[in-house]
Amino acid sequence: MWGKTFMAQDIEEVLLSEEQIRKRVQELGDQISKDYDGQEIIVLCVLKGASIFFADLCRAISVHLKMDFMAISSYGDAQKTSGIVRITKDMDSSITGKHVLIAEDIMDSGLTLSYLTRMLNERQPASIRSCCFLDKPERRECEITPDYCGFVIPNKFVVGYGLDYKQKYRNLPYIGILKPEIYS
Ligand code: IMP
Ligand code: MG
Repeated sequence: MWGKTFMAQDIEEVLLSEEQIRKRVQELGDQISKDYDGQEIIVLCVLKGASIFFADLCRAISVHLKMDFMAISSYGDAQKTSGIVRITKDMDSSITGKHVLIAEDIMDSGLTLSYLTRMLNERQPASIRSCCFLDKPERRECEITPDYCGFVIPNKFVVGYGLDYKQKYRNLPYIGILKPEIYS
Protein backbone atom coordinates (compact mmCIF):
# COMPACT_ATOMS: atom_id res chain seq x y z
CA MET A 1 0.00 0.00 0.00
CA TRP A 2 2.82 2.44 0.80
CA GLY A 3 4.57 1.89 -2.51
CA LYS A 4 6.56 4.35 -4.59
CA THR A 5 3.50 5.75 -6.36
CA PHE A 6 1.14 6.03 -3.43
CA MET A 7 -1.02 9.07 -4.17
CA ALA A 8 -1.15 10.47 -0.65
CA GLN A 9 2.51 11.45 -0.71
CA ASP A 10 1.68 14.16 -3.27
CA ILE A 11 -0.92 15.72 -0.96
CA GLU A 12 0.06 18.69 1.17
CA GLU A 13 -3.09 18.81 3.26
CA VAL A 14 -6.44 17.04 3.52
CA LEU A 15 -8.97 19.82 3.00
CA LEU A 16 -12.15 17.74 3.27
CA SER A 17 -12.24 14.31 4.86
CA GLU A 18 -14.35 11.39 3.70
CA GLU A 19 -16.59 11.85 6.73
CA GLN A 20 -17.15 15.59 6.07
CA ILE A 21 -17.94 14.80 2.43
CA ARG A 22 -20.36 12.00 3.27
CA LYS A 23 -22.27 14.21 5.71
CA ARG A 24 -22.48 17.20 3.37
CA VAL A 25 -23.55 15.16 0.34
CA GLN A 26 -26.42 13.71 2.37
CA GLU A 27 -27.47 17.24 3.36
CA LEU A 28 -27.46 18.26 -0.30
CA GLY A 29 -29.51 15.18 -1.18
CA ASP A 30 -32.06 15.99 1.54
CA GLN A 31 -32.39 19.59 0.36
CA ILE A 32 -32.76 18.55 -3.28
CA SER A 33 -35.35 15.88 -2.36
CA LYS A 34 -37.38 18.54 -0.53
CA ASP A 35 -37.12 21.10 -3.33
CA TYR A 36 -38.12 18.65 -6.06
CA ASP A 37 -40.81 16.82 -4.09
CA GLY A 38 -43.50 15.61 -6.50
CA GLN A 39 -41.33 16.24 -9.55
CA GLU A 40 -39.06 14.08 -11.59
CA ILE A 41 -35.57 15.26 -12.32
CA ILE A 42 -32.86 14.44 -14.77
CA VAL A 43 -29.55 14.59 -12.95
CA LEU A 44 -26.80 15.33 -15.42
CA CYS A 45 -23.30 14.16 -14.61
CA VAL A 46 -20.60 16.26 -16.20
CA LEU A 47 -17.84 13.75 -16.90
CA LYS A 48 -15.34 13.00 -15.71
CA GLY A 49 -14.84 15.23 -12.68
CA ALA A 50 -18.35 14.93 -11.26
CA SER A 51 -18.55 11.13 -11.54
CA ILE A 52 -17.81 10.27 -7.91
CA PHE A 53 -19.88 13.14 -6.51
CA PHE A 54 -22.75 12.26 -8.88
CA ALA A 55 -22.81 8.63 -7.73
CA ASP A 56 -22.99 9.65 -4.08
CA LEU A 57 -25.41 12.54 -4.65
CA CYS A 58 -27.90 10.41 -6.59
CA ARG A 59 -27.97 7.89 -3.76
CA ALA A 60 -28.62 10.70 -1.28
CA ILE A 61 -31.68 11.91 -3.24
CA SER A 62 -34.99 10.21 -2.43
CA VAL A 63 -37.26 11.50 -5.23
CA HIS A 64 -37.44 9.79 -8.63
CA LEU A 65 -34.63 10.75 -10.92
CA LYS A 66 -33.14 9.79 -14.23
CA MET A 67 -29.42 9.77 -14.76
CA ASP A 68 -27.72 11.16 -17.80
CA PHE A 69 -24.15 11.92 -18.74
CA MET A 70 -22.31 14.48 -20.77
CA ALA A 71 -18.61 14.69 -21.46
CA ILE A 72 -17.01 18.00 -22.22
CA SER A 73 -13.49 19.07 -22.76
CA SER A 74 -12.39 22.61 -22.32
CA TYR A 75 -9.53 24.11 -24.17
CA GLY A 76 -6.92 25.34 -21.74
CA ASP A 77 -4.15 23.91 -19.64
CA ALA A 78 -4.55 21.56 -16.71
CA GLN A 79 -5.30 24.29 -14.20
CA LYS A 80 -7.12 26.95 -16.14
CA THR A 81 -10.21 26.81 -18.33
CA SER A 82 -10.48 28.92 -21.45
CA GLY A 83 -14.27 28.99 -21.35
CA ILE A 84 -14.52 27.37 -24.76
CA VAL A 85 -16.18 24.05 -24.20
CA ARG A 86 -16.47 21.20 -26.64
CA ILE A 87 -19.04 18.45 -26.10
CA THR A 88 -17.40 15.09 -26.64
CA LYS A 89 -20.44 13.09 -25.51
CA ASP A 90 -23.93 14.55 -25.43
CA MET A 91 -26.83 13.48 -23.19
CA ASP A 92 -29.00 10.58 -24.38
CA SER A 93 -32.33 12.00 -23.21
CA SER A 94 -34.30 14.95 -24.44
CA ILE A 95 -34.61 17.58 -21.72
CA THR A 96 -37.40 19.62 -23.30
CA GLY A 97 -40.01 20.26 -20.60
CA LYS A 98 -37.96 18.41 -17.99
CA HIS A 99 -36.32 19.53 -14.75
CA VAL A 100 -32.57 19.30 -15.09
CA LEU A 101 -30.06 19.31 -12.27
CA ILE A 102 -26.45 19.60 -13.40
CA ALA A 103 -23.94 17.87 -11.11
CA GLU A 104 -20.51 19.47 -11.42
CA ASP A 105 -17.28 18.87 -9.57
CA ILE A 106 -16.14 22.44 -9.05
CA MET A 107 -16.99 25.97 -10.08
CA ASP A 108 -13.82 27.92 -10.64
CA SER A 109 -13.96 30.73 -13.22
CA GLY A 110 -17.57 29.67 -13.79
CA LEU A 111 -17.07 29.72 -17.56
CA THR A 112 -17.71 26.02 -18.07
CA LEU A 113 -21.03 25.95 -16.25
CA SER A 114 -22.14 29.24 -17.71
CA TYR A 115 -21.52 27.92 -21.22
CA LEU A 116 -23.18 24.60 -20.47
CA THR A 117 -26.26 26.23 -18.94
CA ARG A 118 -26.72 28.54 -21.91
CA MET A 119 -26.42 25.63 -24.30
CA LEU A 120 -28.88 23.41 -22.40
CA ASN A 121 -31.37 26.28 -22.07
CA GLU A 122 -31.73 26.30 -25.85
CA ARG A 123 -33.28 22.84 -25.50
CA GLN A 124 -36.07 24.43 -23.42
CA PRO A 125 -36.07 22.44 -20.19
CA ALA A 126 -38.79 23.18 -17.59
CA SER A 127 -36.03 24.27 -15.24
CA ILE A 128 -32.31 24.02 -14.93
CA ARG A 129 -30.27 24.19 -11.74
CA SER A 130 -26.71 23.41 -10.83
CA CYS A 131 -25.24 21.48 -7.95
CA CYS A 132 -21.50 21.97 -7.57
CA PHE A 133 -19.58 19.92 -5.09
CA LEU A 134 -16.99 22.68 -4.63
CA ASP A 135 -17.00 26.41 -5.24
CA LYS A 136 -13.98 28.69 -5.52
CA PRO A 137 -15.73 32.08 -5.65
CA GLU A 138 -12.46 34.04 -5.56
CA ARG A 139 -11.69 32.86 -9.08
CA ARG A 140 -14.99 33.81 -10.70
CA GLU A 141 -14.79 35.47 -14.11
CA CYS A 142 -18.51 35.69 -14.85
CA GLU A 143 -21.69 36.28 -12.90
CA ILE A 144 -22.82 32.82 -11.85
CA THR A 145 -23.36 31.01 -8.54
CA PRO A 146 -24.32 27.37 -8.12
CA ASP A 147 -27.89 26.73 -6.92
CA TYR A 148 -26.55 24.04 -4.60
CA CYS A 149 -23.01 23.93 -3.35
CA GLY A 150 -21.21 21.38 -1.20
CA PHE A 151 -18.32 23.44 0.09
CA VAL A 152 -16.84 26.85 -0.57
CA ILE A 153 -13.07 26.45 -0.68
CA PRO A 154 -10.09 28.81 -0.85
CA ASN A 155 -8.17 29.44 -4.03
CA LYS A 156 -6.00 26.32 -3.93
CA PHE A 157 -5.64 23.57 -6.50
CA VAL A 158 -7.38 20.51 -5.11
CA VAL A 159 -7.65 16.90 -6.21
CA GLY A 160 -9.58 13.79 -5.24
CA TYR A 161 -13.22 12.73 -5.10
CA GLY A 162 -13.33 12.90 -8.90
CA LEU A 163 -11.14 15.96 -9.36
CA ASP A 164 -7.94 15.45 -11.27
CA TYR A 165 -4.55 16.80 -12.04
CA LYS A 166 -3.58 15.55 -15.50
CA GLN A 167 -6.27 12.85 -15.19
CA LYS A 168 -4.80 11.45 -11.97
CA TYR A 169 -5.89 11.53 -8.30
CA ARG A 170 -9.60 11.16 -9.16
CA ASN A 171 -9.74 8.01 -7.03
CA LEU A 172 -8.46 9.71 -3.90
CA PRO A 173 -11.45 9.33 -1.51
CA TYR A 174 -11.06 12.80 0.05
CA ILE A 175 -10.28 16.33 -1.17
CA GLY A 176 -6.62 17.18 -0.86
CA ILE A 177 -4.47 20.16 -1.68
CA LEU A 178 -1.79 19.08 -4.12
CA LYS A 179 1.80 19.92 -3.23
CA PRO A 180 2.76 22.85 -5.47
CA GLU A 181 5.97 21.10 -6.57
CA ILE A 182 3.80 18.51 -8.33
CA TYR A 183 2.43 21.05 -10.80
CA SER A 184 5.09 23.74 -10.90
P1 IMP B 1 -14.30 26.74 -14.69
O1 IMP B 1 -14.85 26.78 -16.07
O2 IMP B 1 -13.10 27.65 -14.55
O3 IMP B 1 -15.32 27.00 -13.62
O4 IMP B 1 -13.63 25.34 -14.52
C1 IMP B 1 -14.22 24.27 -14.01
C2 IMP B 1 -13.38 23.05 -14.31
O5 IMP B 1 -11.98 23.28 -14.08
C3 IMP B 1 -13.76 21.94 -13.37
O6 IMP B 1 -14.83 21.18 -13.88
C4 IMP B 1 -12.47 21.18 -13.21
O7 IMP B 1 -12.34 20.19 -14.21
C5 IMP B 1 -11.38 22.21 -13.40
N1 IMP B 1 -10.85 22.70 -12.09
C6 IMP B 1 -10.97 23.93 -11.57
N2 IMP B 1 -10.37 24.04 -10.37
C7 IMP B 1 -9.85 22.82 -10.11
C8 IMP B 1 -9.10 22.27 -9.00
O8 IMP B 1 -8.80 22.92 -7.99
N3 IMP B 1 -8.77 20.96 -9.12
C9 IMP B 1 -9.09 20.20 -10.20
N4 IMP B 1 -9.78 20.66 -11.24
C10 IMP B 1 -10.16 21.96 -11.21
MG1 MG C 1 -10.57 18.52 -14.81
